[in-house]
Amino acid sequence: QVDRAIRPQSLAEYIGQPVVKEQMDIFIQAARQRGEPLDHSLIFGPPGLGKTTLANIIANEMGAEIKTTSGPVLERAGDLAALLTNLEEGDVLFIDEIHRLSPAIEEVLYPAMEDYQIDIMIGEGPAARSIKIDIPPFTLVGATTRAGLLTSPLRDRFGIVQRLEFYDVQSLTTIVRRSSKKLGIELDDEGCFEVARRSRGTPRIANRLLRRVRDVAQVGGDKLVGQKVAQRALDMLSVDNQGFDHLDRRMLLTMIEKFDGRPVGLDSIAAAVGEDKDTIEDVIEPFLIQQGFVIRTSRGRQVTKRAYEHFNYQLPQDLE
Ligand code: ADE
Repeated sequence: QVDRAIRPQSLAEYIGQPVVKEQMDIFIQAARQRGEPLDHSLIFGPPGLGKTTLANIIANEMGAEIKTTSGPVLERAGDLAALLTNLEEGDVLFIDEIHRLSPAIEEVLYPAMEDYQIDIMIGEGPAARSIKIDIPPFTLVGATTRAGLLTSPLRDRFGIVQRLEFYDVQSLTTIVRRSSKKLGIELDDEGCFEVARRSRGTPRIANRLLRRVRDVAQVGGDKLVGQKVAQRALDMLSVDNQGFDHLDRRMLLTMIEKFDGRPVGLDSIAAAVGEDKDTIEDVIEPFLIQQGFVIRTSRGRQVTKRAYEHFNYQLPQDLE
């Protein structure tokens, strides 16, 4: 992964998410002082905000090894049992997209999380029996886009639950400055700010845009990259001045033009936009909601006045 070089390794290097940082710092210190593994931790939030990064930092700060897998990759209960029995004491097992575990695999996870034990079935039919195997005390770190996607028995077994928020422009500017230094890109303060404010509150997008700005500067022969070059690159990528990309705009324009700004269900939006429901719900709409361009009502999603203003559209009379 290209992001490895610029990912923070410690909580001290991690920018933004002050609440998560402060709490994790305390929980990690406390666990370390007791010589125990950290409690199982669930991290949720939209893509690109640093769930995987945080999982790696947790392992680092605990002085532990991390083993990484993901919900869809684990096909059979035996896959998870193999991982669990190979852990060393105190290790972190990171399961990304943990909401996509099959029910059979979740069943294996419960006793593992609660009692550091797994039940393995041997044999079939009337002679089948289950044996318990002890596994080393470990920390499960799970990541998901929305906590609501987890079954409640699974969610209830996490002692620590952290929600990552979209980053403010100031934190993102600091992240872009840090990344540009690490990548040897000479980007001035205005340039950092320009990339940051068009990054959808998302470090992964900020770092991606930064690399594209570098490409434009490099080919254009600009050494120190300023706001102008950054702006040129971002315009070329059709990232608008709100940081919206073509999918954001497509969703907003669909809601305005096809549904006349009235409340509309997720299924209808998905069909009209031509994206699947999950992408709309997990990737596209959270930022639009956070920015106040879309609201969720009991009758569905609805665009706000801001969305109309963004496209210089007249607000319909009945919505004023
Ligand atoms: N790179 C990506 N996310 C980051 C963060 N939260 N802090 C520092 N660098 C990052």
